[in-house]
Formats: sequence, structure tokens, C-alpha cells
Amino acid sequence: MTNLNLDAFVADLERLRSEVKKALANVADTEALEASRIVFLGAKNGQLKALQKGLGKLGSEDKPAGGQQFNAVKKSVEALFLQASQRVEAPLKNTKAVEQIDVTLPGNPIRFGRVHPITQTIRRVSSIMANLGFEAVDGPEVEDQWHNFEALAIPNEHPARDPLDNFYIAVANTDRPLLLRSQTSTVQIRVMEQRKPPLRIVSLGRVYRPDTADATHYPMFHQVEGLLIEPGATMAHLKSVLRSFASSFLGGDVRVRFRPSFFPFTEPSVEVDMEWNGRWIEMGGAGMVDPSVLQSVGYDPDEVCGFAFGLGVERIAARRFGVADIRDFYRNDIRFLEQFHDRGQA
Ligand code: DAH
Repeated sequence: MTNLNLDAFVADLERLRSEVKKALANVADTEALEASRIVFLGAKNGQLKALQKGLGKLGSEDKPAGGQQFNAVKKSVEALFLQASQRVEAPLKNTKAVEQIDVTLPGNPIRFGRVHPITQTIRRVSSIMANLGFEAVDGPEVEDQWHNFEALAIPNEHPARDPLDNFYIAVANTDRPLLLRSQTSTVQIRVMEQRKPPLRIVSLGRVYRPDTADATHYPMFHQVEGLLIEPGATMAHLKSVLRSFASSFLGGDVRVRFRPSFFPFTEPSVEVDMEWNGRWIEMGGAGMVDPSVLQSVGYDPDEVCGFAFGLGVERIAARRFGVADIRDFYRNDIRFLEQFHDRGQA
């Protein structure tokens, strides 16, 4: 093995150090820096590694001094690399910082939500009815047959109970299926069962019928149900409540028309029309609460009387907003929905 002279070894180390200095002075970006790092400090074929191998070729008396020199040069070469990397990366960091606070970029637009037109309508109806003294109450959407039919004097053989006209829900171990309520008149019963007259309540909510969807039908829709039980209540009071409601809701003095009709739970019964742009529009049904209904909730029909009405929320919302097809309310198309905004409504 040829011995390597210490002076030659130290000279090689010095040459390396000055080569590194020169190379790094010209390095301008991280890629070039990385390339130099491989040339000089690469673990396999780097030039420093090559010099380290020379250490073994020094005579044994020169080894301690050679090792010291090698470590000193290695440290200073590493320091040169550190300096260079700080120099190359600093401008990058600064640009990033500037980009983060670029005040000239447009901001992220905030989209304002709107209350759904059906919910707007429900809130408005509730507030108008509250002004007329009617308290808003809720009832369950899954009902039993007593509240949806029997207490409302709709007997077993009545066509309204047909399985094809209702969403029945089978209940294990009973032949009394529940159902998705087909009308909000259920709430009249629930309230009368729990409270004593006088009563003025209004209930707004979803009802369900297996109808094919078209411009005026949908298998789920909403109704407003009103009930007033007070001594001396008459059809005249019923008409003036509906007229006050229609005038507040549609604006102006809206005329209301009654047409004779039939509902099992009212006697007499009427269809309610409202005049809108010179046309009579059907809004729902109404009447004086049938004595048999009063009896079924434990009231004495000789002592109490009252009236009830039921209106379609989609129908009155469609009128108010000029919507021709109620399916549009449920398509969830934001371009349609965002057109409707009642002033003063959240
Ligand atoms: N429940 C009826 C329906 O769904 C509407 C109705 C008619 C409600 C007359 C009433 C009423 O309270 O008195 O067709």
C-alpha cells in the first residue's frame, strides 16, 4: 500500500474547500445547490468521501493530524453549504409570504341563503293567524287511525281510508296500521282531547297522499288547519276570519266565497274560494265542527260549538309567488328558489 504524504493530503483538502467555495458562489437555485451537494458531499461518490478514503493511506504517525484536518475541512464545507442554502431559499420564503397576503386578489364570495318559499309562507300564515289570536300548534306526521279518521267521523268504509289513497305503515301484531297523516285535521282532535274550550289554534305542517306528481299535486304537501271553539261562533265569524287572513296574506281587500260542500267532520261544510286578479281560486275547505266530532273528544255539543278550516299551503304560496307548477318548489333548483323573498322574513 503506497503511503500518502500528509502535506499532499492537506493540500487536497484545501483544494476541495476552495473548489466548493467557487462552485457555491455561482449557485443560484435549489436545484443547482442539490447538484453541487451530490458532487462534493455525496455519500457514495462525493469528493469529500474520496478524500476520506485517503485518510487510510496516511502513515500511522500522520493519521491523527490528517483526521483533524479532514474534520475541520468537512465542517467548513458543510457550513458553506448551509450558508448557500439559506441564501437560495430566502427569496422563495419571502415570495410566499407576500402571496399569502395579496390584497389585490378577489375575496371568496359569501352566498346568502334564503328561506324556502314554503317555509316563508308557513311563517307568514302563522304570524297573520297569531294576530287574529290563533296559537300555532304541531302534531305528529305518523298518525293512528283514530286521529286521522275515526274521531273526525270518517268511518271504516269511507273511500278516504282506501289503502290506495294513504301511506299505511304496518305495525307488528296488530291489524291497525299507522299512516302518514293525510290531513292536518288530526291536530284538531289532538288539541281538543287535551284542552278545554275556548280554543283558537292553527297548525301548519306536512301531509302525505300517494298522488302522482303533476302541476297541482305532490305526494307530500302542506296544509294550514284552523280551529276555533268559542260560545256563539258562527259561519259569519268563519268567513270574516278567512277574509282577514286572505286580505293580509295577498294584500288589499280580498273577497272570500263559500260554496256548499261536504266533509264528514263539519256541518255545514263549504269550499272556500278567494278572489285573485278577477278570478275565484279554490283555497280549501271549512265548516262548523260536526257535533259528533265534539262528542268524540269528550265535549258536550249542546254547550260548545266552533268552526274549522283547512287550506293548501302550496296552493296559496303558488298564488302569492306566481308559481304555475308546485313541483318547482321541490326540485331544489337554487336559481328557482332564490327568486322568492318576502320582505321582513328571515
Ligand atoms: N282536511 C280537509 C282535506 O284535507 C280540509 C278541511 C276541510 C279541513 C274542512 C277542515 C275543514 O278543517 O273544516 O281535504
